[in-house]
Amino acid sequence: MNKILTLLLNLELWILQDTFAARHSLKYFIIATSGVKNFPEFVGAAEVDDVRLGYWDSDIQSPELKQEWMRQLVRDIPEQLDWYKRKCSGNQLVFRKHLEALSQRLNQSGGSHVLQRLNGCDLDEESGEVVGYNQYGYDGEDFIALDLQTLMWTAPSSQAFTTKLIWDNDIDRLQYNKRYYIKKCPEWLKMYVNYGRSVLQRKELPSMALLQKTPTSLVCCQATGFYPKLAMLFWRRDGQELYEHVEHGEILPNHDGTFQMSVTLNVSESPLAQWAEYECVFQLSGVEEQLVIKLDKDAIQTNWIPPSNFPAGAVIGGAVGVLLVLVAAVAAGCYTRRRNGEFRAVNTGVELALPEC
Ligand SMILES: *[C@@H]1O[C@H](CO)[C@@H](O)[C@H](O)[C@H]1NC(C)=O
Ligand SMILES: *[C@@H]1O[C@H](CO)[C@@H](O)[C@H](O)[C@H]1NC(C)=O
Repeated sequence: MNKILTLLLNLELWILQDTFAARHSLKYFIIATSGVKNFPEFVGAAEVDDVRLGYWDSDIQSPELKQEWMRQLVRDIPEQLDWYKRKCSGNQLVFRKHLEALSQRLNQSGGSHVLQRLNGCDLDEESGEVVGYNQYGYDGEDFIALDLQTLMWTAPSSQAFTTKLIWDNDIDRLQYNKRYYIKKCPEWLKMYVNYGRSVLQRKELPSMALLQKTPTSLVCCQATGFYPKLAMLFWRRDGQELYEHVEHGEILPNHDGTFQMSVTLNVSESPLAQWAEYECVFQLSGVEEQLVIKLDKDAIQTNWIPPSNFPAGAVIGGAVGVLLVLVAAVAAGCYTRRRNGEFRAVNTGVELALPEC
């Protein structure tokens, strides 16, 4: 990442930090597929402040609530669960129809196709400002999005133009959308935030580790188990943040509702004698304390075994084998680069392999 971008990110973090407690988001993700093997035809998920509330797919056919406070909420307000059940099974049919209509409009016969939707709203509790969004992706590209100001659909590619014309004529649906994003979505978001406040506003610091595949690979600094998602991880040398030979990974969700991220450093031009000058630093929004891990040969976890000592597999079993698998799994997060760009919101939220790492 270049210097300007990192500076901007830092700035953003500081600005967000001030207003963080007042800003909330409610997001819904849908993935509908046709002709994709070993993946449910329909998957839906809901998140508040990037924390997963619930999950539904066409194989399980019933909502799974992921937070204790959400289970309490549906005990108090059973209509909530009824609404999600209705919406999920209804949307499964709606999205199947969308997929059929799209492949006809685009002259695609057969094959596998994926339609994704990201919708929801952001709310600033202090100013009361609400921003709603509803956007679709088709086969991994941004497809069509609702402009709530003009109440028209916008299509970035000519592929979606016919769909835009048809959807622009569906006035009832547009009006429903308008009411939903201005009223219902922020109301529900406020209710969820009130139920989950103590969980949503907690702070958890991560554990940190240094990982390296082979002695010539990049050194990956990983922080896992932090909450909230607003955090920075960077390399520092003699107290100065490094921008060169550094690659930042994206923040990824863990199973338990915390997050992980990584940043790599290319040490190929730094002699071992200088390593002590380098350190990897983690900072969580709203927490002054920084976590620091020094670059140290002995602190690096690796599954690399010098070739001459490699005992042809016989000795690698049991505990060592398990360890190798673990290290490989952890390290994988450091070396996968994700697609960046304009359409990120749709693409990162609902990848086919739902991020489980
Ligand atoms: C689909 O095929 C029809 C008839 O062959 C053609 O007129 C139309 O332009 C095609 N549409 C697309 C999006 O390629
Ligand atoms: C690290 O940097 C060196 C020199 O700049 C470069 O040749 C090498 O390919 C880089 N290593 C990796 C893994 O990117």
